[in-house]
Parts: sequence; structure tokens; C-alpha cells
Amino acid sequence: MLSSQVGPNGQFSHPLLHVMRLIQHKKEAYWFYWYLSNFYDKLVNPLFWTPKMRDESLVLAQLNDPGLKVIDVGSGTGFTTQGIVRHIPAAQVTCVDQSPHQMAKAKRKPDLLGCTFQIGDAENIPFPTDHFDRYVSAGSIEYWPNPQQGIAESYRVIKPGGVALMVGPLEPENALGRWAANTWMLFPKDREYRDWYEKAGFTEIQVHYVRPQWFRGKAEYGIAIAGKKPRSGVSPAAATTALPETAEEKMTLGRRLQLIWRILVGSTAGFIFIPAALLGYLRQAFGPKADIPDEYREGLNGYQIAVLLGLGLLLAGLLWWIF
Ligand SMILES: C[S@@+](CC[C@H](N)C(=O)[O-])C[C@H]1O[C@@H](n2cnc3c(N)ncnc32)[C@H](O)[C@@H]1O
Repeated sequence: MLSSQVGPNGQFSHPLLHVMRLIQHKKEAYWFYWYLSNFYDKLVNPLFWTPKMRDESLVLAQLNDPGLKVIDVGSGTGFTTQGIVRHIPAAQVTCVDQSPHQMAKAKRKPDLLGCTFQIGDAENIPFPTDHFDRYVSAGSIEYWPNPQQGIAESYRVIKPGGVALMVGPLEPENALGRWAANTWMLFPKDREYRDWYEKAGFTEIQVHYVRPQWFRGKAEYGIAIAGKKPRSGVSPAAATTALPETAEEKMTLGRRLQLIWRILVGSTAGFIFIPAALLGYLRQAFGPKADIPDEYREGLNGYQIAVLLGLGLLLAGLLWWIF
């Protein structure tokens, strides 16, 4: 069985580390969100995970009764939770995230004031078996060292007949995008999501593909996958997955340096997607207009325009300096 270890000299080792993407690790994700939470809602999230994508995905969660008890795992700053509380009273909704920095932003949102907030790990959810009616997790699986374990946990915490919805990115089709994505974190293949759900024991599995309006790729961009829990108890996959990391990692100098370079290089690979998305929006602004309700019209906000102008100036300065 795979499990993380702290070696005799306190060095960090994990049997999955060699195949893991740079931020696909709990410590790395924690510190990544320590700084990203400061501009997550204003700059980053609206480019890649839009209200239209969220609301389309949530249809699969079947939030069709205000009495349902819902858990949102990897709830972050609460953007997906804000979609959930349009159907379910906040008092029925529990948010779990490992980042106190992200959670602090969610706690300040007026529509989420009644929610329960709990710091916790998606691979070891701090709630009993057969407890919730619905499980939702959006954009978090990318950071989980053991996605099958996280999905087994989604199965465990819902009641029989309950539904678990997972939303995540798909591996990009073009080589540069795929290289940047895989350096940054986990971008699973369509087949992997389906296999994890099947192995976890879910039935009546449903899939819906989502994309922001600027994205013009031929391949799919993101997937929403949902399944029903047929019987009570833990997931059949629970016995076959690695134990979640339980021991606090000893932060030796070597591990600290490793953490820093993984976050720096991983973040750089991830940030390649920001200008790509901003340029996609720019192209869209000059292209034909799609017939979309006002609520779902996607455009750039002031922060994003400032970044776009800054990047333009940087490029102009570079060209001027070279020539
Ligand atoms: C891209 S954000 C998504 C936030 C939110 N679901 C949304 O829709 O905007 C990913 C979140 O997953 C959280 N996360 C990453 N790994 C986690 C883990 N092992 N357990 C719990 N949360 C985790 C991060 O702290 C971060 O807040």
C-alpha cells in the first residue's frame, strides 16, 4: 500500500511524488493558495470557471430539494458555493477546504454567512460516513495527490441515494498547453475521471462538458461528472487507494527549498494560461457576438484589463529594447 513517509533524516518522500505535477501536493497547494487567494476572485477564477460553467455543472448535482444537506469540498473562496446557495439554504451547506486563506475570503461573502466552514482534507473528509445528501467539488481535484482516494471519500460521506458531483479540467490537446498544464498540476484525461467514478462504486454516472466562452479548442476543456451512491458505507475503492497523509511533514531545509522551487516553477507554468485566456477574451471582443443572456455574458473586469495593458507595455518595452 502506498503512503507518504518522512525519511530517517526528516526528508520528504512520497511514492507518487515522481509522477506528481509540481503543485499536486497538499503542502505545495497550501502555500500556492496562501498568495493566490489575494487575487483569485478578481483576476484568476473569472477567466477559467465562469457562472455559466458553474450553473450548468450544478444541474448534475440535482439540488432539487431545499431540505438537502450539501458538502462543498475544496470550496475555496466560495464561488461554487454561491451557486449552491441559490438552490439550498446556506444553513444546509458545509464548506471544506485545506486553505484558511481561501476560506477567509468565502466567510466574508454575505450570501455564505449561514454556511458551516470546516478546514479539512478532501482525501480524509472530517465528517462521518453516510452524512450528506449531496457532495460537490469544483476545481480542486487538480491538487490532490491521490484523486481516487478523494473520490472514494466523496462516496463515503454521502447517504445511499445521494449524488456526488466533481468538476475539473481535462488535459489540453495542444502540446504546449499540455506541457504547461502537466508541469503545473493534475489535468486528468476524460477516461480517468470515468474510471475513478466507476471504481469508487458510483452508479448512474452522468457527464457534461464545460468551457469558458473565450476557449476555441476542438477538444473539451472541462468536465462535470456525477454519480449516485447505491448503498450505504465506504467506497469499494477505499481499500485499494493510498492512505491519506496523516503525519505532519517535517520541514527540513531541503524540503523547504524543494517546496519553494516547486511553487515558483509550478506557478510560472500555470500563469502561462492567464495571458492565453486574456488574449482569448480580446479576440472574442472583436469577433461575432454569441446570443447569451446578460447574466452569463463574459467580459474582462478592471483588474484583468490592467494586467492585459501591463503585459502589452512589457512586450512593447522588450521589443523596443531588443531593436
Ligand atoms: C481552484 S480552487 C476552487 C475553489 C472553489 N471550488 C471554486 O469553485 O472557486 C481549489 C481549492 O481546492 C483547495 N484544495 C486543494 N487541495 C485540497 C485538499 N487536499 N483538501 C481540501 N481542499 C483542497 C484549495 O485550497 C483551493 O481553495
